[in-house]
Amino acid sequence: MTDATILAEREPRLPARTDPAVRPDATPDGGLTVRGLRKTLGGRDVVAGIDLDVAKGELVSLLGPSGCGKTTTLRMVAGFLPADGGVVTMGDRDVTTLGPERRPSAMVFQNYALWPHMTVTQNVAFPLRTRRVPRQQATERVREALELVGLTHHAGSKPTAISGGEQQRVALARAIVQEPDVLLLDEPLSNLDAKLRVSVRDEIRRIQQRLGITTVIVTHDQDEALSVSDRIAVMHDGRIEQIAAPAELYARPATGFVASFIGSTSVVAGRFLAATSVVPRADDAVLVRPEQVTLTDGSPVRATVVRVLMRGHFAEVVLAADGAELRAFVTGVAPAVGTETGVRIGDVLVYRDGVLVEAAR
Ligand SMILES: Nc1ncnc2c1ncn2[C@@H]1O[C@H](COP(=O)(O)OP(=O)(O)OP(=O)(O)O)[C@@H](O)[C@H]1O
Ligand SMILES: [Mg+2]
Repeated sequence: MTDATILAEREPRLPARTDPAVRPDATPDGGLTVRGLRKTLGGRDVVAGIDLDVAKGELVSLLGPSGCGKTTTLRMVAGFLPADGGVVTMGDRDVTTLGPERRPSAMVFQNYALWPHMTVTQNVAFPLRTRRVPRQQATERVREALELVGLTHHAGSKPTAISGGEQQRVALARAIVQEPDVLLLDEPLSNLDAKLRVSVRDEIRRIQQRLGITTVIVTHDQDEALSVSDRIAVMHDGRIEQIAAPAELYARPATGFVASFIGSTSVVAGRFLAATSVVPRADDAVLVRPEQVTLTDGSPVRATVVRVLMRGHFAEVVLAADGAELRAFVTGVAPAVGTETGVRIGDVLVYRDGVLVEAAR
């Protein structure tokens, strides 16, 4: 079943609510807590014990490769999928057994799930209608939400008559209009082109900060996660491997998996080890970021330039020595393929049994 059908099936059956301005389920501090969340699907532990705290007004990204359990986790947090174990708390309320309409959260689905026969205004107003918000108040809130996402001029358009980025913003407005304590977004930018991704991404962050909404964004795009998040939770096989602020995650990836998933790394091997300040054990993995590799004639460690990839204002230079390869970022004039050069290596990351044991310097 797709998210769209789940939503379409559930929404019309929402129970009547009284004026949401005095919602009985309003949470005092608006934070989100997840403890021991689990789900088994097709005989596999797809979500294998997730613990997560998101403070009020904080934006946390769930980042991980395809199939690691991100969507399943978010659906359980939103209440669209029952958990096999664990507890979800929003504010000081245990919402674990409540349906989505009873949680102080709103979810934006990857595929937007807009109703094609309704106008933009009607789409955004829908959750308020099903909750019996008085018409005048609903009209005002829809107007505010559309203004917030910059779509006032498309209020009367049908979803088919607006662009993908605009549809995405309608879906966002439809979530925001509910004034949720917790905003949950599943790959909200995945259907947009590169330029639009950046502008909608910045827009989501701006709105989220302005309204101070506790937010979880699911993504498999590390650039997206690094640029909008207060903290990033890196998922792998149904578990969170590390949760940290973007800069910390980049500088000190706790496991080899996180290091290879965030940013670019090379394995330092063979002759290149002599260019570092570490003396690793035989089975340690030594990794280096390309910006820590410098080409200098002053180094006795020699390598050959085998590839040069233009990246815009810098080039990624691939170096080889005795079968080992290393990547360096070079600004200015890149050396030609075939050139021999000296290599110096700055900070490295040393992993033993997959776990960080040393970050040099
Ligand atoms: N109903 C189901 N029955 C069996 N397996 C399922 C079911 N739903 C999901 N899975 C499996 O659970 C795993 C996690 O799925 P999930 O959709 O949470 O991944 P994801 O991290 O969101 O991936 P993506 O980045 O591709 O969206 C996948 O291997 C998927 O095939
Ligand atoms: Mg997914």
